[in-house]
Order: sequence, then C-alpha cells, then structure tokens
Amino acid sequence: MAVIGIFDSGSGGLSVYRELVKLLPAERYIYYSDAANCPYGEKSALFIRRRARFITEFLLDKGADVIVVACNTATAAAISELRAQYPDVPFVGMEPAVKPAALGTKSGVIGVLATAGTLRASKYLNTRGLYEGDVRVVEHVGQGFVELVENGVLDGPEAENTVRASLQPLLDEGADVIVLGCTHYPFLRPLIERIAGPGVEVIDPAPAVARQTLRILEKHGAPVGEGPFSVELHSSGNPEALKRIFDLC
Ligand code: DGL
Repeated sequence: MAVIGIFDSGSGGLSVYRELVKLLPAERYIYYSDAANCPYGEKSALFIRRRARFITEFLLDKGADVIVVACNTATAAAISELRAQYPDVPFVGMEPAVKPAALGTKSGVIGVLATAGTLRASKYLNTRGLYEGDVRVVEHVGQGFVELVENGVLDGPEAENTVRASLQPLLDEGADVIVLGCTHYPFLRPLIERIAGPGVEVIDPAPAVARQTLRILEKHGAPVGEGPFSVELHSSGNPEALKRIFDLC
C-alpha cells in the first residue's frame, strides 16, 4: 500500500481526498487540516510557505510516499519551494482548471472562482496568459465560501446569498463555464450549479489531480493497490469541522 499525505488550510482538501479514494481505494491516507490558520486566502506567501514546510515534515514523518497539496492557495505560494527543499519527494499540486474551461466554453467567457492568494499568484497569472485572447477570463474571490464550508453551512439562505454575491458577477459577464479554483468550493457545488442554471458547466479539477497522483505513484514504484485502506485525520484546530465534512465524503 502507498502512503498518501494530503494537506489543506482546512477541510477543503477532502474534495480531493474523495476523488483519490475512488481511484486508489486500497492505500493509507494521512490528511492534515491547518484549521488553526484557516483561511490561507489572505495570508502572506511567506507564512503559507512556513506552514507548508511544517506540514510536509509531519507527513514525511508519517511515511508519506507522495504529498498532495490539496489547496490552490498553498500550491501557488509554496509548491516550488517545497520541490526545491525536498527534491526526492513527489508533490502533486492544484491549479485552477483554466485549460479545460477554455476548451469547453461556447460563449467565449470563462469564470474563475478562487482565493485572493491564488488569483494574484504568478502561477495562475501565467496559466491565464496562455488562454487569454482565445477566451475572456473573468474572476471573483469566493468571498466567505471557505467559512461556509468550515462551518458546515452548505445550503440554506445564508449559503445561497454568500454564493450568489460572488458568482452572479461572473454570470453577468457571460461566463458559461465556472472553474472551482479552491478545494473548499466543490462542497458548495450543488448550490453553485443551482444558482448558475443548466447552461453553465462547473469544473472541479480534483478528478484530474487524483489521476496525476496515481501516475506519480506508479512512476516512483510505490506499492499501489495492495491494501489495507486506512485514513488518519489530523487538524491544527477544531477537529469537528474536519469530521463534519469527512462524513460527507
Ligand atoms: N482550500 C484552499 C484553496 O484551495 C484554501 C482556502 C483558504 O484557506 O483560503 O485555495
């Protein structure tokens, strides 16, 4: 069995975990939620890099064969440094799925929902630059989305008002594809789809990230598929929030 370490600022990375488990059901999973420091969205890159290093050490001590940075914000801030600091460790990161959105749009406008940290990072700006011109890219921070998910508020008037406030501007611009550029947001997907309506496609990159993790494990010769399955949840903050979302996965 391979040991798969996963981390995020909070419970959002569980949207990646649930895709990993579908593809790799016989591995050992160690999930770390940095709930004490959530959200990462407005934190400095320096702060996120320090946390990413600390959590990487924790996961390596637990025997991780691969580390999935299941957080777009942490990937943007820290994955290059992590790869340089731990050259023997395979890292898999997240990035807003601009490419499939650009290929899928009919209106020529794609909407990206992500944190402020992701949207200002050079990693994202470079990717966006590759497709801008062919399509128009409009963006919005999912203001308050992370807090909704951490509080387990995935539906109802409060969730609906919060989601609509950030999503509607993208729909008003004509976006017919919405990219979920933060791993917390897939837990709000039913609500996002309901507000956006049937003509709008919503893209969650987690299944692609799970496939990439499998490829990397195979490339590194990790003993994939031998079992037994197990999962450990760790949190630097309130473990209840993590458990609540885990129970939905
Ligand atoms: N889940 C994270 C992401 O994918 C971070 C959200 C946050 O802590 O602001 O960007």
